[in-house]
Amino acid sequence: MRMHIHQYEKLWLGLSLLLIVGFVATVTYGAVGTPAISMIGDDGDTLNPNAIDDHPEFGDPGVEKVGESEYAAYVVARQFMFQPDPIVVPANTTVTFYVTSADVIHGFSVVGTNANTMVIPGEVAELTVEINDPGEYGIVCHEYCGNGHHGMEGLLKVVP
Ligand code: CUA
Repeated sequence: MRMHIHQYEKLWLGLSLLLIVGFVATVTYGAVGTPAISMIGDDGDTLNPNAIDDHPEFGDPGVEKVGESEYAAYVVARQFMFQPDPIVVPANTTVTFYVTSADVIHGFSVVGTNANTMVIPGEVAELTVEINDPGEYGIVCHEYCGNGHHGMEGLLKVVP
């Protein structure tokens, strides 16, 4: 009897490993070629999370043109939304996202891309992303941040 349980455990372990290998393969192959959106840098800065509303950029978060084909997107994550929503940027540009939190730790992840970062109150997560193709890309919070976590979503709109 003991032996049987052991065999089943082995079987499940094997299946789990197969699943993991499958996921890794998917992620790896997904990254090959020219992705529509890809993160090329990740850096940071600090600020006072209690004074976000008075902050020159985060007080009224949005997208600014900062160069020929370069944009800066200021984003505030808070329970349970991203501001602005949607974030609108033109295609074929380089966008640096500056993301901070007004309350607790959140995540900022552009679905289906490698662009993601943790968002920590008091810190500005900075990630630079190459935006190629127009389209709509979901943004999700991937750090548990409270009972509305699973519904914390935003939208990145890439316009032609
Ligand atoms: Cu915000 Cu999870």
